[in-house]
Parts: sequence; C-alpha cells; structure tokens
Amino acid sequence: MSDDVEKVRSRINIVNVIERRVNLKKTGRGFTGLCPFHDDKNPSFSVNPSTGTYRCWSCGAKGDVFNFVMELDRLTFREALEVLAAEAGVELSRRPSDPEIALRQRRQAAMNLAQEFFVDQFERSDLAKSYCDGRGLDSSVRKEWGLGFGPPSGDLLANHLKKAGYSLQECQELFLVEKDSSGGYFDRFRSRLVIPILDERGRLVAFGGRIIGDGIPKYINSSDTPLFSKRRTLYGMNIARSVMSESGRCVLVEGFLDVIACHRAGVKEAVASLGTSLSEEHVALIKRWAQEAVILYDADKAGQAAADRAEKMLTAQGVKVKIALMADGQDPDTLLRSGGPDAVLAAVASAVPPTEFRMEQLRQRMKPEHDEFWAEAFSILASAKSLLEIERYSTELAGLYPGIRDRVAAEKLIKREVLRRRKAPARAVVQTATKVPKAAVHASEGQVIRALLMPELRRAAFLALQEDLFFTGQGVQVASLLLAKWSDGPPSGAANQWVPGLDPEVQDVFAMLEAKAILSMSQESLADAINWLKQKKAERELQRIKGGLGEDASKLEIIQRSLEELKNKKS
Ligand code: UTP
Ligand code: MN
Repeated sequence: MSDDVEKVRSRINIVNVIERRVNLKKTGRGFTGLCPFHDDKNPSFSVNPSTGTYRCWSCGAKGDVFNFVMELDRLTFREALEVLAAEAGVELSRRPSDPEIALRQRRQAAMNLAQEFFVDQFERSDLAKSYCDGRGLDSSVRKEWGLGFGPPSGDLLANHLKKAGYSLQECQELFLVEKDSSGGYFDRFRSRLVIPILDERGRLVAFGGRIIGDGIPKYINSSDTPLFSKRRTLYGMNIARSVMSESGRCVLVEGFLDVIACHRAGVKEAVASLGTSLSEEHVALIKRWAQEAVILYDADKAGQAAADRAEKMLTAQGVKVKIALMADGQDPDTLLRSGGPDAVLAAVASAVPPTEFRMEQLRQRMKPEHDEFWAEAFSILASAKSLLEIERYSTELAGLYPGIRDRVAAEKLIKREVLRRRKAPARAVVQTATKVPKAAVHASEGQVIRALLMPELRRAAFLALQEDLFFTGQGVQVASLLLAKWSDGPPSGAANQWVPGLDPEVQDVFAMLEAKAILSMSQESLADAINWLKQKKAERELQRIKGGLGEDASKLEIIQRSLEELKNKKS
C-alpha cells in the first residue's frame, strides 16, 4: 500500500487538486488563497508545490494532498487514496479479492441473523421487556437502537446459526458462541440485554450485553473479531457523525446507555468507547467529523482519571476539549431519568476548558493556605494552552497567595513560577508521511526569525537581519530572501496576513520554528539571542583576521589569553 501512496503522490499535483476547491494565486514559487477550513477573510492559506504540502497561517490546518482530501471531504485515508488514485490513473495493488469480499458478506450475514434472533427473543421475553420498561427504554427506543435479548438457555442461538448453514467455528470467531470443555458450543450472550454495535458506516460489527438485573460481569463486550476492532469503533458513531459534522462537536460519554440517553435528550453527537479506554484510533475517528469534544464522564476517581487522559490525547491531536463531570454516581442515563432532557443538556453545557476544570478540582480538594495547593496550581497552569490563560489565572490567584500583600508582586511570582515549569507544548503528530522540512538554523537565528512573527518584536529582529549576523546555510538563505522582499522595511500587522506571500522555503522555516517553539518569547530573550549572534560574528571575524596573520596569530592568541585572565581576576 505504501508503494501505492507514493505512486499517487508523485503523479498528483497538489496545486491541481486544491485549485478545484480554492481560488489560488501564484506568489513566487508558491500559491495562496482563502483557507477552505475556516472562515477566511484574507488569504492565509498557502500551498507549496515543491514539498507537496499546504498550510493555513490562521487556523493551523496543514498537511499533504491526502490530508487535504480527507479533511475537506471527510474521508478515511483509504478512501482518499482511492479517489486520488483514480484521478492519477494509478491501479491500487491490493483491492480486496472476490473471495475476501464474499467472506466478509458471509460474516456480515451471520451477524445480521444473530441480530434478528436477539430481537425476536426480546419480543418473547417479559423479563427483558420489563427490565427495559424499568429503565425508561420504551419500544421506540428499543427499535431505534435495535435492542435484543439473549435467552438464558445455553445454545438456542448456536443451533439457529447452525441450521442456517454457518459453522460454529466461524460463529466463534464472531464472538457469538464459545466452545465448552467437552467440545460443544454455547451462546455468548445469555440472560442479557443485547445491544448491537454498528461501525461509523452503519455496519453491524459486534454486540454488547448487559446483564438483566445485578450480576457479574455487568457487561460483556465482544472481543476483537474479523469484523470488529474495539480500538476503532465508537458506539453511536453511525448516527452521531452527521450531526457532529454540522455542529463540529463530539460528546464523549462512558457507556452504551449513556449514548442512548444523550441521543434521547437531543444530544445526538454522543459516542462512547466500549469496554476500553479511548485509543488514538478513536481520536482520529472523532477528528474526522469534529473539531471540539465535550468529555462527559462520572465524577468518581476513575472517571476523573479517564477524563484527564482523554483530554490530553484529544488536545495533542488538535481537538479542542471541554470537560464536564457529573455528580458522583450520576451518568447521562440516570440524569435523563431523574431530571429529563434538560438535566442532560445542562450537564453538557456545564463543560469548561481543561485548565478551568483542573483548577476547580484543585480548589475543591485543597485550600490555598497549603504549599501543595500552589505546587499543583503552578503545574496545572504550566500545561495551559495559551499564555492568555496563564495571565488570567495569575491575576485571579494573586489575591490568594499567602504571605504577600502586594497583589502585583504575587502575580509576578506566580507567573514566574508557572513559566519556569512550562515546557515545549506537545504538538500534534503528523498523521501521514508528510515531508516536514527540518529547520537547520541555529537556535539563536530561530529566535530572531520567530520574533519577526510578533509585531512588537519585529522591528528589532529586522534590524538584526540587516546586520548580517546569521551563519548557517539555511539562516543566511532565509535572511537574504526576507531582506530582498522587504527592501522597504518589514510588513506591519499580524503574521497571517503576510507569511502566505513569502517564498515556500521561508514559510517552511517559520512553520518548523513555530511547531517547536516554547510559547513565551520576550524582548529580553530576543536581545540575548541577538547578543549571542553578534558575539559569534565577532569571533568569526577574529578567526578570519588571524588566518591572514600567519606567524603572528599565535602571538596574538597568547596576548589575548593573558588579557582574558586579567579581566577575570578583576571581576
Ligand atoms: P458503567 O459501570 O458506568 O455502566 O460502565 P453504565 O454504562 O452506567 O451501565 P448501566 O447504566 O449500569 O447499565 C460504563 C461502560 O463500561 C463498560 C460498558 O461499555 C459500559 O457501558 N463496561 C462496564 C464493561 O465493558 N464491562 C463491565 O463489566 C462494566
Ligand atoms: Mn448507567
């Protein structure tokens, strides 16, 4: 398959593909236009035909031609590959063969037969009906979600499948029956409410079963089968995905019945991972339809930990997250039953951004009189997404800091502690093999280049460019390209207004530096970088002069060293 990918990539011109959707204008060796991924007023979107990548300088959308088609048309990677291969006239090497398709259809038919069986059994079971009635699951809900019942007797389904011509071994592979010690087969789902699990395309791929009443285990979930991968499946996605793509939002809940409850309350973007914690594949699935996720978990310890983990994974992939925890022991299902749809809607609406969520939890757990409160507060704020958030909380917390009356001083102290703990933010991992150019500039050159993006530092950085301080190949190239472009001085205004018009090489360097950057950059750190570059330039000049001195160079060195020693003694 990766051969196919490269073949398609090499035969497709990204500009041609994007041009069909975006009005592109040629700028130097690149192209710019209005970004199709957000409501763009000025052209912030640039395409680099030499690396085959695009990037929006406003909303951050970026990737290669596959990402573009995937994101714009909401396709899977495979689907995008098929579309582009057809366009490029590339025959994909591994199409499922006819026997494979037939096998899949056969398995699918066995699953569908089992589903019919469970629904039929439900209709015959007063126990199942009264259990559902007791939980407020009326017949329209049962029908919509295809709820069924696995009868208590040992092998009704097994016999049913066998009669229809399926071998029990293949049914075992589908997690419908299991072998006992004597070599016979028995049904997997016995005395359970059976919930069909559909993949995002609406194909029945697995079942979950809840025990009727109390018992252990409460739920049985299908293990992975040839049709089902729990890492890739989110319950409810077949219905939720179209709603998600309109609202841009996903609501993550913990269980089957929570998904159903949310949908009944009108929150139709609700999905749940099943019998497994959120996986990277789940995150990718969510990302195909939504840019934002609301995590709606139980407030107990396990729920908090799961929310924390899910938030980090989603954030790392660029999904904006909000978190809401329901009071201990509550879930959307119990909320719906006790408070009606409004209670569920209120729970979703109570979601707050991660920093606020963590700070709120901290406040509930500890008092600001304790050192531990501050240790935790600093580390929470250090992982905040923006400096703005840090500013806001530093101001807010300043009045609580023990032992310091002066609010401004307290605020300063808090900010300093937070920034000290702040590390480079985790960035989204590039999904497909996009060629990401490596910045080969020196760190100090990088500081100066990055400062050009910031209006308040731009002037100082530009003067440094004019002083010809750079020394790496790429640094020198970037500087000369920029100086040629900015013969009348640097542009004013936000970077997204002018970066797209630059040479692709320069844009790449900006992109690289931005991706690696630690958010804060101050006047002082820029000054430090420039100072260092000046020093290096002086040293290079000294070397050059020494080179021309021949014999006298070593004498000069001796004099220099004694001079240094003298200087050090003085201080
Ligand atoms: P919960 O224990 O929160 O159950 O498990 P629930 O969803 O509230 O279920 P009800 O309302 O009591 O019927 C949340 C999810 O974790 C998985 C299931 O997917 C469940 O929906 N789970 C739970 C299991 O896989 N096995 C279990 O034994 C329990
Ligand atoms: Mn529940």
